[in-house]
Amino acid sequence: MTRQFTVGYLIGSLATESINRKLAMALVKVAPPEFHMTEIPIRDLPLYSYDYDADYPPEGRALKDAIAAVDAVLFVSPEYNRSIPGPLKNAIDWASRPWGTNSFSRKPTAVIGTSPGAIGTAVMQQDLKAVLSFCDSPQMNAPEAYIQFTPGLITDDGDITNDGTADFLRTWMEEFHQFTRRVLAALAESQ
Ligand code: FNR
Repeated sequence: MTRQFTVGYLIGSLATESINRKLAMALVKVAPPEFHMTEIPIRDLPLYSYDYDADYPPEGRALKDAIAAVDAVLFVSPEYNRSIPGPLKNAIDWASRPWGTNSFSRKPTAVIGTSPGAIGTAVMQQDLKAVLSFCDSPQMNAPEAYIQFTPGLITDDGDITNDGTADFLRTWMEEFHQFTRRVLAALAESQ
């Protein structure tokens, strides 16, 4: 039987009409059958301070528990001022602490994002990948995915209206599946 994987996805935008939430919905729809996709919410996290480390609040513990419970993590995020949106960076800081309990260590990840501009979140992705490197996460380096969001590209229900984009995103998710499978196999072998 084919191995199944649980993938948690974090959406870097809190906006009601977020185009990155639409992209995440689309990715859930084109995900391979081996992937079970579940959102890891970040909206209710307080702003992180190491004052919390001695007694993590329920929101911080829930985030760390959610990441521990999945096989891989997918980041779907906009680019704000050429970098990572504050709420997403805050969530990563929460998950990386308390010291010695970094949730991203040895956790396979991939990064994708969409913006109306042609650059398609490329600069944010470079910053996010640097952060995830520091957090010791094995990351899918290729293929990269910089999605320019043209009006109507993805419906409110997560349906992709352009065949080329649908094919690309389906292939990208299959690549993430194969990457996750390889990383987890290597980690299991090395333990
Ligand atoms: C943006 N936007 C933006 N776009 C981009 O391509 N590069 C950027 O650096 C920025 N910077 C930026 C800062 C702030 C504070 C906002 C609110 C917006 C535009 C952005 O891509 C657009 O608003 C998208 O709709 C954001 O994605 P979500 O939040 O709709 O998923």
